[in-house]
Amino acid sequence: MKGKRENWGSSFGFILAAAGSAVGLGNIWKFPYIAGENGGAAFIVVYLISILLIGIPIFISELIIGRKSQLNVVGAYKKLSNNSPFWSIVGYMGIFTAFVILSYYNVVAGWSIGYFFEGLKGTFNDFTTVELASNYFGNQTSSTFWIISWQLIFVALSVYVVFSGVRKGIEKYSKLLMPILLIILIFLAVWGSSLKGGSAGLAFLFKPNWGSINGKVILIALGHAFFTLSLGMGAIITYGSYFSKDDNILTSALWVVFLDTFIAIVAGIAIFTSVFSMGFNPADGPGLIFNILPTVFNKMPGGNIFGILFFLLLSIAALTSAVSLLEVITSYFVDNKNYSRHRVVIISAFITFLIGIPSAMSFGLLKDYQIFQKSFFDIMDFLSANILLPGGGLLIAIFIGWKYGYKKSLDALESGSNEWFKSNIFFAFLGKKVPAKKLSIGNVWFIFIRFIAPVLITLVFLKSIGII
Ligand code: TRP
Repeated sequence: MKGKRENWGSSFGFILAAAGSAVGLGNIWKFPYIAGENGGAAFIVVYLISILLIGIPIFISELIIGRKSQLNVVGAYKKLSNNSPFWSIVGYMGIFTAFVILSYYNVVAGWSIGYFFEGLKGTFNDFTTVELASNYFGNQTSSTFWIISWQLIFVALSVYVVFSGVRKGIEKYSKLLMPILLIILIFLAVWGSSLKGGSAGLAFLFKPNWGSINGKVILIALGHAFFTLSLGMGAIITYGSYFSKDDNILTSALWVVFLDTFIAIVAGIAIFTSVFSMGFNPADGPGLIFNILPTVFNKMPGGNIFGILFFLLLSIAALTSAVSLLEVITSYFVDNKNYSRHRVVIISAFITFLIGIPSAMSFGLLKDYQIFQKSFFDIMDFLSANILLPGGGLLIAIFIGWKYGYKKSLDALESGSNEWFKSNIFFAFLGKKVPAKKLSIGNVWFIFIRFIAPVLITLVFLKSIGII
C-alpha cells in the first residue's frame, strides 16, 4: 500500500504540470470560437471522437518516448531510433512547430493580459451592449502599439517563469489558481444557462446538425484535439522525460485528458449560453470571448471584479502553456549545444516575438494582406494546428507502432502501471483481475497506435483535400 501512495504522489505532480500545459487559450479562447465557426455540436462530437480514438493513444505514446529516453524531443527520437536521420528530422519538426505556435499564442495571451488591465481601468463598465464591446476590441487589436506591447510583456513574463524554474514556481501557483479558474468557469456556465435565451446556446452545443460537417471541419476538429492536449510536437515527450519508472502513464494520461476536455466543455457552455441570450453571432471569430464575456461581466453584480479575475487567470493559464512550448525549444539547445539556459531562453523567446509581429498586426495594419483568404495569423494557426500537429501525431503513432515496436512499447508502458493493467480490459474496468492474453489494456492501446490512429489521421488529411 505504501509504495502505491508514493507512486500516486509523484504522478500527481506530473498531472498538474501536464494539465498546466494542456489547459490554456486552446480551451477557453480557441475551442469556443472554432466550435462557433464550424457549426457547434457536430463539430464537438468529431473533436471528442478524435480525443478518444487518437488523442489518448498518442498522449500515452509521447509519455513512453519521453520516459524511455529521458531526453529532449530531438534527442529522444535519435536515441530510441538508434540515430536514424529520418526520425531526427521528425524531432526538429517539433522544435519548428513550437516556434510557429508560440508566435501567435503570445499575441492572444497578450490580449488577455491587456484585458486584465482594461478590467482594472473599469472599461467593462461601458460595455452595455456586445456591439460596444466588439467595437472596443476591434480598436484595441488594430492598434499596433497596444497589441505589440502586450505581446512583448507576455513574452517577457514567460522568460521570467522559465528562468525561475518551471516546476518550482509556476506549479505551486497553478495548484491554487487553476481550480479557481475552473470554479469561475462553472459559475459563468450556470449563470449563462439561467439567462433568458441561454438554452439556445445549449442546443447549439449539444444538438448536432450533421450537415455542417465536411472534410475541412473534420480536420479542424482533429487538429484542435492535438492542440488542446499539447500533442504532436514533443511537449508531452519533454514533460514525460521527467517521469519516473514508478509513475503510472495510463492513469496520468487519462486524468490530463479528462481535465482538459471538461474545462473546454464548461467554457463552451459559459460562452454560448451568453452568446445566444444576447442575440450575438456564434461565428464571430478570434474575438469571440473578448466581445462576449466583458458584456456579461457588465451585467453581473460585482462583475467587474469577476472580469478582472477571469482575465488574470486566463493569462496565467496561457503562461503555463506557453512555458511548456518554450521548454521544448530550451531543453533541446541546452542538452545539445552547451549554451547557457538563460541565453537560450531569451534568444528563443525573442525570436518567437519577432515572428509573431505579423500575426499581431493581422487585425490592424496587415488586415488586408491575405493569402488564400487567410491572414498571417490564420496561416500560422492553420499550419501548426491543422498540419504540423496532426502530421507530427501521425509520425509518433508510426514511430511507436511500427519502429519502436510492440514488445518494447508494452514493457515501457507497463512499468508503474496498476496490477489490473494486464487483465482483460472489460474486467479491468470492473476492477477485477482476469488474465487475458489478447484483450489487455496494453494490447488494445497498441492496436490503436499501430492501426487505428494512423489510418484515421491519414483519412482525415485525404478527406480535407478532397481526395476521398
Ligand atoms: N494546449 C495548450 C492550449 O490548449 C497550448 C499548448 C501548449 C500546445 N503546449 C503545446 C499546443 C504543445 C500544441 C503543442 O492552450
